[in-house]
Amino acid sequence: MERTCVILKPDAVNRGLMGEILKRFENKGFRVIGLKMERLAPTKLEEHYAHHKDKPFFQGLVKYMASIPCVVIALEGVEAVEVVRKMVGATSGRKADMGSIRGDFSMSHQQNLIHASGSKEEAEKEIKRFFKESELHAYPLMSLDWLYSEEEKKA
Ligand code: CMP
Repeated sequence: MERTCVILKPDAVNRGLMGEILKRFENKGFRVIGLKMERLAPTKLEEHYAHHKDKPFFQGLVKYMASIPCVVIALEGVEAVEVVRKMVGATSGRKADMGSIRGDFSMSHQQNLIHASGSKEEAEKEIKRFFKESELHAYPLMSLDWLYSEEEKKA
């Protein structure tokens, strides 16, 4: 099954939205295979956002992400990357569709509550960046048979 990486950003932590956001992923049917709170080091964030390093908001983004702890989550499910990105919504909270996490709870381009991996390759890299192997957990999800058909479970 596919894995993806989500980061609940400092605004989600400070606004008390951690439970609300996690609940959406649990209700949707994802298996939470990794979950931790961490004050992310600027060096790790610079690596994570390397593709934005020439953007004018880069330094501010790293400073904001390092300001208080984030919650890093690894999720597993069929087509997890695409489904989670859809649930998260467009970058700007003001533009994101209502019903998406950003559309429902964010008013900002930067303080947009949550990061989600953009591709399968990115997801695997990010999971390695933020989790040790011992922090990832494989356990039977009791609802799996009710979430997917036999065919879908093979994906
Ligand atoms: P995300 O799409 O998760 O990853 C890149 C982050 O950069 C984005 O969320 C925002 O938090 C931030 N970002 C993107 N565009 C801007 C912008 N124009 N000004 C400030 N921050 C931005």
